[in-house]
Amino acid sequence: MRRTQVGIVGAGPAGLMLGHLLHLRGIDSVILEVRGREYVIDRVRAGVLEQGTVDLLRGSGVGDRVLREGMRHEGIYLAFNGRRHRIDMTALTGGRAITIYGQNEVVKDLIEARVATGRPLHFEVGDVAPHGFEGDAPALRFTVDGEPHEVACDFIAGCDGFHGVCRSAAGNDLRVYEREYPFGWLGILAKAAPSSSELVYSNHERGFALFSMRSPAVTRLYLQCAPDEDLAEWPDERIWAELQARLQTDDGWHPNEGEILQKGVTGMRSFVAEPMRYHRLLLAGDAAHIVPPTGAKGLNLAMADVSRLASALAAFYETGSMRLLDEYSDRGLRRTWRAQRFSWWMTTMLHRVPGETPFDYRRQLAELDYLVSSRAAMTSLAENYVGTPFE
Ligand code: APR
Ligand code: PHB
Repeated sequence: MRRTQVGIVGAGPAGLMLGHLLHLRGIDSVILEVRGREYVIDRVRAGVLEQGTVDLLRGSGVGDRVLREGMRHEGIYLAFNGRRHRIDMTALTGGRAITIYGQNEVVKDLIEARVATGRPLHFEVGDVAPHGFEGDAPALRFTVDGEPHEVACDFIAGCDGFHGVCRSAAGNDLRVYEREYPFGWLGILAKAAPSSSELVYSNHERGFALFSMRSPAVTRLYLQCAPDEDLAEWPDERIWAELQARLQTDDGWHPNEGEILQKGVTGMRSFVAEPMRYHRLLLAGDAAHIVPPTGAKGLNLAMADVSRLASALAAFYETGSMRLLDEYSDRGLRRTWRAQRFSWWMTTMLHRVPGETPFDYRRQLAELDYLVSSRAAMTSLAENYVGTPFE
């Protein structure tokens, strides 16, 4: 049977970054991923990196491309009642900013770094099952081309996303807090130059819409839809008409149109599993928590988790101390709940809810009006949006 120090399930941003940070500290790991390499790289996901995430990529030697190609944004716009209002995040937070860089680009950079180390990263493995983590002999069992394999390890890191196997392996001993939203996002990537240099979050009578981007030539756009919206009912012309109706402002600003390169629908939920550690099984990223995308926190929470987890594991291997591993969950949950609160707040302030009354809409508009006219309120939004430094 093979042996490693940390068995990592999942090659999303969490699993790959954890493997990379452990490698830098001389700690061995095996990463097991159920999907193929191309699938993982091509999957279109989030795109907003907090300063802490960029600092982590840079500080660990995988930041060259994000520094070169990432787009630094110092503000965002909130649009309502036909007007766009800029929130100057950098001025309000003493110089912090966000960077636009696709999650799949982060994954591509991390896979390249992993392959360069020669440490194991296996795609298309089957039947991954964590074992023995309640005692002191954890192991990961899995299959390759139907053949059974096993890796013995000291710890198992569950970085296998919301639908993974690790969280359920801890069974009833985890407490789960959950909220589903009665809407989803229809998202597109379009071959069109972004017509605004910064993101636009719009609360429109017809529903929420978001203008974002991936590069100087590619625009990313979202519109609020039903959680189970049928894409077949959304030909390109209908998508553009709806995006224009919800995003254009009285000053004549509107998104540029272009060939639609990709479309998809995602549901929205808030979810937290507590604790994040169950004996020698440690959960990180979407395996432990989900936020609605309105606050752009999902990827950044995953990065904060693995940064903390790598330090805790390194302390264990260097000194034998379990102290940081014991604190891993409580520290992570504090950051998670803070991000949950912020993401929930952004979501409820900006979306139409089925069955709401005209009162609810007027109240949202009053909240937005207060927000963009109060420096204190804008500062609160800005410091949550850019995020606090990682521990
Ligand atoms: N065995 C092995 N791998 C698995 C298994 C399994 N049983 N189940 C899931 N996986 C893999 C998935 O295929 C995926 O590649 O685990 C990986 C989890 O990656 P992500 O879902 O990207 O989660 P995470 O790394 O925590 O990153 C969080 O992803 O959903 C976004 O908004 C979220 O940006 C955030 C980020
Ligand atoms: C994105 O660019 O994909 C994006 C931006 C901001 C969000 C969510 C997603 O809040």
